Amino acid sequence: TGVVTVDPGFMNTASCESEITYIDGDEGILRYRGYPIEQLAQRSSFLEVAYLLIHGELPSPTELDAFVERVNRHTLVHEDFRTFMGTFPRNAHPMAVMSSAVNALSTFYPESLDPFDPETVELATVLILAKTRTITSYLHRTAVGEPLLYPDYSRGYVEDFLRMTFAKPYEQYESDPTTVAALDKLLILHADHEQNCSTSTVRIVGSSHANLYASVAAGINALSGPLHGGANEAVLKMLTEIQAQGGDASDFMRRVKNKEQGVRLMGFGHRVYKNYDPRAAIVKKSADAVLQQLGKHDPLLDLAMNLEEIALSDEYFIERKLYPNVDFYTGLIYKAMGFSEQMFTPLFALGRMPGWIAQWREMMSDPTTKIGRPRQVYTGAVERDYVGVDAR
Ligand code: CMC
Repeated sequence: TGVVTVDPGFMNTASCESEITYIDGDEGILRYRGYPIEQLAQRSSFLEVAYLLIHGELPSPTELDAFVERVNRHTLVHEDFRTFMGTFPRNAHPMAVMSSAVNALSTFYPESLDPFDPETVELATVLILAKTRTITSYLHRTAVGEPLLYPDYSRGYVEDFLRMTFAKPYEQYESDPTTVAALDKLLILHADHEQNCSTSTVRIVGSSHANLYASVAAGINALSGPLHGGANEAVLKMLTEIQAQGGDASDFMRRVKNKEQGVRLMGFGHRVYKNYDPRAAIVKKSADAVLQQLGKHDPLLDLAMNLEEIALSDEYFIERKLYPNVDFYTGLIYKAMGFSEQMFTPLFALGRMPGWIAQWREMMSDPTTKIGRPRQVYTGAVERDYVGVDAR
């Protein structure tokens, strides 16, 4: 009832109240539960940030140890689940496999589905954080045809993820501290971003009282698109293509500005940030440092910086307040670490798990929550009579 107004893309419609993440898009500010992203990226760890987002406060040392221990202990997946992960075509896009896998998890843990029992929800939370790490390793292993490795509980969350992803089964794997720290930081930067496309999807699916796995699997699908999380893969494809065509950044920018065949500068622009994305600022510094530390000079990093420099002094981008977003430089780091392009968005999804979970839990525990059900303004035919097929 009342006046219904159309708001395409929900530019001006708030779907909820939330205490989790604060963004000031004009100032380029991002805070999780009040803590500036810069401080968390510098000093915290991914699982600590997950705890903060989900439980609202930083954990005490005992709470953190217990949480990390519980997550690590659940990283092993059922043997049948391993088999299931191996049944997709080798060249399947890992985002499709990942959302299927998270959806399938619910069938292995039917005791963790009640959305209103706090202990059950905590179990589902831990299971999803733990299993998606293993699933993400398996996405890489099955794509390259290498045997799946079992978790090693004595190693840290990120450290063991890298071992399970990259270690040969016959080798004594030594993790590289630069890579571990850099990936931990990237996961923190992706951990939440309030009511973006995938998070809104998770909430709307959950608002029907669908379980956490079903809601998160839907979020993964929403994230896969190139305008959202898929942008990190699209950026690397774009850079590679420009390089292959001679590396002329100015010519590419001319095509973007002329909107030739809808060409966009991928990794640029944001619905909320009308200033430098604070995550992109951290990632850019990190990309430079990590590539140097790993001794991997990548001409695509120079090209990306060149594109950014042109964009930031160009009328088209200035007028529209288009700045690099989080996806602009992340792919270059993932690539230097040894991930294929198709793995970039699954890494984003792995990082976003705490945010999706926290947002779903906040919604489910809010007594004012109602099923998500937008209205529409009907613009179709007025009433008319059916005509039988012979008379048409
Ligand atoms: N390159 C060229 N022009 C752009 C770009 C871009 N990357 N982004 C926006 N514009 C132009 C757009 O054409 C429009 O121009 P005009 O006013 O002449 O029609 C104006 O800027 C406003 O853009 P919009 O599409 O109306 O803005 P939006 O808020 O609906 O879309 C966006 C936001 C992120 C989808 C868009 O900026 C975009 O497509 N960027 C490229 C894809 C990308 O990097 N996505 C990652 C987003 S951040 C992290 C994440 O969510 O994963």
